[in-house]
Amino acid sequence: MKVTAAVVDELGGPFRVEELELDEPGPGEALVKIVASGICHTDEITRHGDLPMPFPCVLGHEGAGVVEAVGDGVTAVRPGDHVVIGWPSCGACRNCRDGEPRYCARLGEALCGGGRLLGPRAGEPALRRPGGTPVHSHFFGQSSFSTYALTWADALVVVPRDAPLELLGPLACGISTGAGAVLNTLKPRLGSSLVVYGVGAVGLAAVMAARLSPATKIIAVDRHPSRLALAEEFGATHTIDVSESVSGVGSGGGVDPVAEVHRICGGPADYALECTGVISVVRQAADSVGMLGTCVLIGGAPAGAEFGLDHLTTLWGKRIIGTLGGSGRSEPLIGTLVELHRQGRFPFDRLVRFYDLADIGRALDDSHRGDVLKPVLRMNH
Ligand SMILES: NC(=O)c1ccc[n+]([C@@H]2O[C@H](COP(=O)([O-])OP(=O)(O)OC[C@H]3O[C@@H](n4cnc5c(N)ncnc54)[C@H](O)[C@@H]3O)[C@@H](O)[C@H]2O)c1
Ligand SMILES: [Zn+2]
Ligand SMILES: [Zn+2]
Repeated sequence: MKVTAAVVDELGGPFRVEELELDEPGPGEALVKIVASGICHTDEITRHGDLPMPFPCVLGHEGAGVVEAVGDGVTAVRPGDHVVIGWPSCGACRNCRDGEPRYCARLGEALCGGGRLLGPRAGEPALRRPGGTPVHSHFFGQSSFSTYALTWADALVVVPRDAPLELLGPLACGISTGAGAVLNTLKPRLGSSLVVYGVGAVGLAAVMAARLSPATKIIAVDRHPSRLALAEEFGATHTIDVSESVSGVGSGGGVDPVAEVHRICGGPADYALECTGVISVVRQAADSVGMLGTCVLIGGAPAGAEFGLDHLTTLWGKRIIGTLGGSGRSEPLIGTLVELHRQGRFPFDRLVRFYDLADIGRALDDSHRGDVLKPVLRMNH
């Protein structure tokens, strides 16, 4: 079938909206009519080569839409179901069988292999140019910067018909990642302190989730005062502006965020979340927690990036853990966030600004300038 999609032809190349051919669903697959797709920072780092997605390709991994058709043997979803496209996984490796599909052993292929992970046509891209040249598909199992996406049916998360579908795509990645890091990974204990480095879309989702927990100190660190103001609205009890600090964009001097965290908490914090993707901030986040503290690494840094830690203080029972997509399974996390949003307890809609697919370039520019937290592309069928 014909679809309209934003194609990236080469490393660092622009997004070009064009017409492509998409395969019909085969066994185990579902065709999703995309209503809207969020843009995540990870789409951008992939365009610049930090994830090994082959070019030309269609990116996009925060898709929400309506099931249009299903292939043979699909029972999980039916045409007409409203869905968020969840995390892809093989379902057969040890981690998948142990209930940890987020850490599927075939993760690399599943996220950026450039074609189907499973089924009789495994490895094959599902998109073609009108002349027949293949275009790589299935980025995070979806390639949702397109009017339609071919997905593995078991990855879909069905959402209630009355939920605001065009808002829900970001629950496939950015928003769930920040919230899941708090709700699935940290599970803050009573009266604890938590610091979020970088309050973009991911960090603000973490702040919103922390407010739903019994943590009593929620500290937001960023270099944009407007984002810190938002963090306060969403539940931050303290903010640290690093726009003038050594690590920020400023000219040196100014605030040392680690010292500030220790001052606010009267010692180290219990939990830190690194949501900037800036490698020097990893050390700050790790140094912000002390004995038995936990530092969660979320930000996506350039390929090959490394970091250092203080050896002695890390031995003090400190845990440094990486997380993907908010950990846990997609279905309970997305389902819970949809319901919390409906109840007004998780107002992530305030981060969203809508654009047409054709305006993807403007959406990215606005996002780079920090004018918009979570751009979402509407497909306008
Ligand atoms: N692990 C995962 O599964 C996963 C999922 C989604 C996104 N990510 C990654 O998470 C990161 C955050 O994503 P986002 O969409 O919120 O991006 P974003 O660009 O909106 O947010 C990053 C924030 O960090 C702030 N920042 C930059 N330098 C800083 C510094 N030195 N100190 C404090 N704050 C600083 C920025 O001002 C910005 O507000 C990205 O690196 C993204 O690739 C990871
Ligand atoms: Zn697996
Ligand atoms: Zn993402």
